[in-house]
Amino acid sequence: MTDPVWKHDTVLLHEAVAALNVQVSGIYVDGTYGRGGHSALILEHLGKNGRLIVTDKDPVAIEHARQRYADDPRVFVWHGSFRDFPEALAAAGVAGLIQGVLLDLGVSSPQLDDAERGFSFMREGPLDMRMDISRGESAADWLNRATETEMADILWRYGEERFSRQIAREIARSRSQAPLQTTTQLAELIAGVVRKREPGKHPATRSFQAIRIKVNQELDDVEECLRKSVDYLAPTGRLVVISFHSLEDRIVKHFLRDVSTPPPIPKGLPVMLQAAQTPMRLIGKAIRPSGVEVEGNVRARSAIMRVGERMP
Ligand SMILES: C[S@@+](CC[C@H](N)C(=O)[O-])C[C@H]1O[C@@H](n2cnc3c(N)ncnc32)[C@H](O)[C@@H]1O
Repeated sequence: MTDPVWKHDTVLLHEAVAALNVQVSGIYVDGTYGRGGHSALILEHLGKNGRLIVTDKDPVAIEHARQRYADDPRVFVWHGSFRDFPEALAAAGVAGLIQGVLLDLGVSSPQLDDAERGFSFMREGPLDMRMDISRGESAADWLNRATETEMADILWRYGEERFSRQIAREIARSRSQAPLQTTTQLAELIAGVVRKREPGKHPATRSFQAIRIKVNQELDDVEECLRKSVDYLAPTGRLVVISFHSLEDRIVKHFLRDVSTPPPIPKGLPVMLQAAQTPMRLIGKAIRPSGVEVEGNVRARSAIMRVGERMP
């Protein structure tokens, strides 16, 4: 398409689409279009009466989808967070239940590779990190206004950064002289504070992850979307989620456990079938990319996919 240089290697492509169990006339949501790797394969399985609603927070990804599928009446493209996918369905004129939701979380390679987006500590660029550049607060805006305690809390909670307090203190000191503006400025500041290096990891990795999660409200979005999916999935409809770090995966794992575990029945009481029913069931175990996939795409290394199915 328009940006052949910034390509995204789709993670768990065949596994995720197989897990969706695509029905030819089904209605599906690809909540994280990116560059449309999963969407394209879903569409190969969909007949002419099937529908695919794609959402992405990133206007660049959305523009890509609009151009690519301008002539495909099965595809409806919606700019916004997947947490609001019911709004996308309403806008697409979908009134009933749907057969599947796919989330391939995190950032895409084009987002990481474009220095102007500010996601990468390896590339000099404005400290932005917003997936949706049309709204919200950039990383620089937040870092230049948050209290030291707030910053330390976020670095600890979302980055599990051991030097969170020291980094927050250094940011507060530095911005009292001049506001933080660029990715490399922040990366160097952090590198100067993190005394114990983790092998193979840039000292700013954890902090950049934490700030990105905060700026994009990533974990809230995931929780909200999972919660809503129960009400929108048809019986046997599938929820497929690919996570890239333990915080996301914990949310997905706990959600699927909660909706697939029957409530405890007090001893001695007769069990009514309905009382033992759960909204969803787990499909298989967590799936990780094969060694071959990881060899060809280092981003796949940390991926983990979980699948749930709506009960009748
Ligand atoms: C890993 S990429 C998806 C790649 C895609 N599956 C493909 O094959 O090209 C993640 C995408 O999800 C988007 N994204 C992340 N969180 C989102 C959210 N809450 N709502 C909508 N899109 C989101 C990002 O902007 C990014 O484009």
